[in-house]
Amino acid sequence: MAIRQIVLEGDDVLTKVCRPVEKFDQKLCTLLDDMRETLYDADGVGLAAPQIGILRRAILIDVGEGPIELINPVFLEQTGEQNLQEGCLSCPGEWGVTSRPAYVKIRAQDRHGDFFEMEATELLAVACCHEIDHLNGVLFKERLVDGLEQ
Ligand code: NI
Repeated sequence: MAIRQIVLEGDDVLTKVCRPVEKFDQKLCTLLDDMRETLYDADGVGLAAPQIGILRRAILIDVGEGPIELINPVFLEQTGEQNLQEGCLSCPGEWGVTSRPAYVKIRAQDRHGDFFEMEATELLAVACCHEIDHLNGVLFKERLVDGLEQ
């Protein structure tokens, strides 16, 4: 495993729409392992592949309950609203309260290509939405309810 450099806001790669993962091979496993090491090194709760310069639909989340890898995630349901304070490893030192669904249901693939569904509320739901936004070139700043805190 290796720690990769996290791309910062201002880099074009964070504004692109990522392509689906098509090959569930060793290269994907290496990517996900590197994302895990990079996330833990940075002490974050989530990381999306474009944040290390890879324009593929792969995200990793760990809100303190162990790592969750979501490949090609899609929302099946989004209901309610919650407002939590968010930050982003690509926007160091910046925080803000966002509007996110209170509940999400997601379908995704694991690193082997097997499909699964998951439900999330509270911080986990926010993290899922935040990281899936990254796959579509969207930063949390576009979800703010008030201003940015620095
Ligand atoms: Ni982020």
